[in-house]
Amino acid sequence: MNALPSPAADPTPAELLESSGVREVLAQLDRELVGLAPVKGRIRDIAALLLVDKLRAAQGLQSTPPSLHMCFTGNPGTGKTTVALRMAAVLRQLGYVRKGHLVAVTRDDLVGQFIGHTAPKTREIVKKAMGGVLFIDEAYYLYRPENERDYGQESIEILLQVMENHRDDLVVILAGYRDRMETFFSSNPGMASRIAHHIDFPDYSEPELMQIAGLMLEQLNYRFDDEAAPAFARYVALRRRQPHFANARSIRNALDRMRLRHATRLFTAGTAPTREQLCTLQAGDVLASRVFAMQEARDGD
Ligand SMILES: Nc1ncnc2c1ncn2[C@@H]1O[C@H](COP(=O)(O)OP(=O)(O)OP(=O)(O)O)[C@@H](O)[C@H]1O
Ligand SMILES: [Mg+2]
Repeated sequence: MNALPSPAADPTPAELLESSGVREVLAQLDRELVGLAPVKGRIRDIAALLLVDKLRAAQGLQSTPPSLHMCFTGNPGTGKTTVALRMAAVLRQLGYVRKGHLVAVTRDDLVGQFIGHTAPKTREIVKKAMGGVLFIDEAYYLYRPENERDYGQESIEILLQVMENHRDDLVVILAGYRDRMETFFSSNPGMASRIAHHIDFPDYSEPELMQIAGLMLEQLNYRFDDEAAPAFARYVALRRRQPHFANARSIRNALDRMRLRHATRLFTAGTAPTREQLCTLQAGDVLASRVFAMQEARDGD
């Protein structure tokens, strides 16, 4: 008789994923961030954990908020800050934190120069971050063992307390180079034991860097013409092997410089540029880069 499902039927995890809006946030993450498969996988796992926790709570089963403090390791420009922002949004959609904002800091924001300054500074930042994510970049600088009375230790103590007592409304993400982070954890076991998730951000491959460039250009309303695209592929191959290469950040900087050359070129042409010309980067805009000159200098040796 009663073939209709009751409206109060328990939701499946997939339905919960949809109705919470998390499915869309994850899909957006997939679309807007190139590569990073292991990172995206970990975010999906964390979302699944929190959704199942909700289902458990609905059944009256024991559901304690899991500890979600994390550590993001990887080279500069691999997407750590960007992913932390997305993570904050996911945690808010899942109701884990109230606001889902990100407060990004470094040692100088937390640690004072004089005695008595550190605790209020750290507490102020913690207060700002409450209900969201506290992102501590290059977190290992908090610990300076060479300095016997370093105030960083005081900041660490406060953070440890907050990470334990407010874990249901504040997520702390520590970020930095992998090897330095490991050294930091080995001298700060209290911190190490509070970090539940370690996520490593690999360097991008050349095809991934090209894809990232494509995505960035699309967002900026520019495009490469048929000669500029292969010229930029050569640029990426060379730039990757040069000093201070910072993955996706170097791509963004390179595109900024190409837009500068493009603008100068249109300006000196003297005629009114067409819509097409306003959007199109040419090979010359790419090849004028110092990166090619450096390569020639080296080949000339
Ligand atoms: N996978 C990606 N797809 C598209 N854009 C990306 C990706 N990763 C990073 N970016 C872009 O590259 C730039 C640098 O990324 P981000 O600041 O997140 O890196 P980071 O790891 O925090 O670097 P740093 O260690 O220097 O702080 C940003 O503009 C970001 O939007
Ligand atoms: Mg960053």
